Amino acid sequence: MGSHVIGAVAEFPAGTRRMLVVEGRPIGVFNVNGTYYALKNSCPHQGAPLCVGTVTGMTLPSAPGEYRYGREGEILRCPWHGWEFDITTGKSIFDPHKCLVKTYDVTIEAEALPEVETYPVTVESGTIVVHV
Ligand code: FES
Repeated sequence: MGSHVIGAVAEFPAGTRRMLVVEGRPIGVFNVNGTYYALKNSCPHQGAPLCVGTVTGMTLPSAPGEYRYGREGEILRCPWHGWEFDITTGKSIFDPHKCLVKTYDVTIEAEALPEVETYPVTVESGTIVVHV
């Protein structure tokens, strides 16, 4: 498994996503409230580009006749037939034990500082010499 830089944190705010192809795999990376998640961009139902689907929330367990909505921004709805997946785990909302999307690790690492190539300089017999 290789590491692939996908951009600066400052340019990838909460609630946004990016589509990538990494080592030939189509992947969607999501910033959900400041935490990054990466999912395979392929729905386990019939292979739709899942990660272009609607990001939404869901109804939460509640008493009969009561409807509580929550988890806004954590649920991904497939654009083809509406199957819904938990972005944070890749698991199906409907059938979390049998159906899931492949997920990948995402980390935040220190941004590499811009660097200029340097060359040694010496002073020889009263002259300055740059060694390239
Ligand atoms: S292909 Fe995703 S729900 Fe059918």
